[in-house]
Amino acid sequence: MHKQLAISLDTPFKQEVFEGLTSYPKFLSSKYIYDKAGDKLFQDIMNMPEYYLTNTEYAIIEQHKIQLAHMFSRGNQPFHLIEMGAGDGKKTKILLRHFTEQNLDFTFRPIDISQNALDQLQINLKREIPRLRTEPLQGNYFETLRKLNFNTEERKVILFLGSNIGNLCHEEAIDFLSQIQEYMQPEDLLFIGFDQKKNPETILNAYNDETGITAKFNKNLLVRINKELDANFNIDCFKHWEVYDPETGTAKSYLVAKSPQKVFIQALDLHISFKAWETIHTEISQKYDDRTVQWLAEQSNLTVIDEYSDPKQFYKNYLFKKSY
Ligand code: AVJ
Repeated sequence: MHKQLAISLDTPFKQEVFEGLTSYPKFLSSKYIYDKAGDKLFQDIMNMPEYYLTNTEYAIIEQHKIQLAHMFSRGNQPFHLIEMGAGDGKKTKILLRHFTEQNLDFTFRPIDISQNALDQLQINLKREIPRLRTEPLQGNYFETLRKLNFNTEERKVILFLGSNIGNLCHEEAIDFLSQIQEYMQPEDLLFIGFDQKKNPETILNAYNDETGITAKFNKNLLVRINKELDANFNIDCFKHWEVYDPETGTAKSYLVAKSPQKVFIQALDLHISFKAWETIHTEISQKYDDRTVQWLAEQSNLTVIDEYSDPKQFYKNYLFKKSY
């Protein structure tokens, strides 16, 4: 038997790395940046002055928490607050604290792919907001949404924060939103953060910090392939490169080979070579305007019912209902 046949692409990670690195041009999915080291690097990114997204969304939620309490609870009717990709819950805690102080009747249901993130969050919430009812759910978005759909009695309010939607191209975003919409009842709400188009320089700086944290974050993809798939990428031979197109609103990240490279990925029994200046596309961070969000909503059978922004209009959170 040929050796290649003995290698099985038995995980999505292996399959996607194989596909991306044998394509031309090469690509890798940004979702694989987030192992333990990647999570930590993203925490560091959120603390950088250039990365305005986190603080801006935090300020929007703080500014509008009273209004959001009214919108979500409709005069203190019970609801389930579901957060997709809850992470450390820093921004959500503003709402959790306020809603708890106001004695709203709600259960917080954080969803995350990482059991570790959920355990940490649970410990923190027990300490910080002891009265809060929480029911965490581990899994990917759609498995868990399906489970949540059984309790159809109470309103569902689904949160998707941090402009995480920006990692999806429009077609993928429409697919994602359409699927969420399928799980929504007419009274349910969807609250999503969308980073907005702005001075291109501000956007570029957010993804191209001088300290090199974002470069390290991007390169963690290669570090992870080295660790988990027994590969020998020479990390220093790749350059982090960011571009932003103000017309489409798409920020794109690349890793560019600075010289010709040969890499062997043992777990895939795969030899890869790079010409000098050959690229791996790793991430998109899409920026939006009202017109684009409106269009995405229409394509996904959703209706914008309210929106919340900061004074500089750097970022917007939109509240959606199912259209019918
Ligand atoms: C977590 C997807 C919102 O695209 O802004 C930060 C990830 N990438 N710096 C983003 C990221 C580079 C971030 N999201």
